[in-house]
Amino acid sequence: MSTNRRDFIKNSLVTGLFTAGVGFGPLIKKGYAAPAKKIEFGTCKSVKVTCISETAWFDPAIMLHDIQSTGGAMVSSYAHPWTQSNIGGYAALIEVEQLDGTMHNILMDACWTQDWADYSFHKVGVDKMLEDKKIDILVITHEHHDHYWGLKSVLKRYENIPIIFPNTFYPEGKALMDGKYKNDIAMVENDIPATGERIELGPDQPYKLFDGVLVKMYDLPIMNRVRGEQNLYFNIKDKGILCVSGCCHMGILNMLKWAQRNIEGFKPYAAYGGLHIAAFENWDPKFVDIIRGVKRMGLEKLACNHCAGWVWAQKAHDMGLPIVLGSDKYKEYKRLPVTGEGAKENVFMRNGDVHLFSA
Ligand SMILES: [Fe+2]
Ligand SMILES: [Fe+2]
Repeated sequence: MSTNRRDFIKNSLVTGLFTAGVGFGPLIKKGYAAPAKKIEFGTCKSVKVTCISETAWFDPAIMLHDIQSTGGAMVSSYAHPWTQSNIGGYAALIEVEQLDGTMHNILMDACWTQDWADYSFHKVGVDKMLEDKKIDILVITHEHHDHYWGLKSVLKRYENIPIIFPNTFYPEGKALMDGKYKNDIAMVENDIPATGERIELGPDQPYKLFDGVLVKMYDLPIMNRVRGEQNLYFNIKDKGILCVSGCCHMGILNMLKWAQRNIEGFKPYAAYGGLHIAAFENWDPKFVDIIRGVKRMGLEKLACNHCAGWVWAQKAHDMGLPIVLGSDKYKEYKRLPVTGEGAKENVFMRNGDVHLFSA
């Protein structure tokens, strides 16, 4: 059974419990204060993640060329003439089971092109869930094209879906949500206003969606003139914290360490999502440090894809991180990425893959 949207009004911002960005130990000696109290947001029983699509682009080389040929990573995503034949989008369905058996369904992100959003929502039945209002809330992790510009595909099925998004959106992004945006250079448009509740999240206001489900926004500059990204934390009873991210521009170690510093009774468990490490399959020796850092955090499972980079996920797997391997389900999609072509095992959780995080 889905929850009523009134539940969001009932669930207030988790404020007054938390002081952002401070640590323990040596920092206290330098005069910083430790958080007065850590955040408690309850527990849930299990979290099932379906990778609707992680293929924001099918060929990383073309994507990189698109960015470099029109001014580079500082140029707004709304000003790039993206190669339409190369793009898809990013979205995930997250089904949360509460301790009493109640279900909550979250759609994280909305893909990029209309065509790919329509197609991949249909592949996993999310089109019907939207039409039947079985999705409780749309969480837009950040304003990047590949996560946000497919919004119309959501709104044409469920116009008044509640939406939670970072409070750092630019005017173009807000106009897109208002159904008043058309851009023939970047090829993005939406003429359906989002008429449901809108929650704009700032960095100092972690937001409890349901028992065991928290949204946290990080205010940071991101490539292609985007600002701010939020991710989800799930507190799974008898397991610990599952972090779910879109691109994770804040960095996996920052995402994990924020939870460690600020969540009461933090126990590391798992992570799912893009990790923005080897986003265009470019290797840098310092990426090994991230693998070592994540190892020290003691996760049981790491299900990554998208901008984590196949090359990073493969190295992480080889170095003993508990990478969740994907299936061949992605081959049932109408378009296949060049990433991971010919690999003997799938180090990404790929399109159509489902994973249950539970005790
Ligand atoms: Fe992305
Ligand atoms: Fe991104």
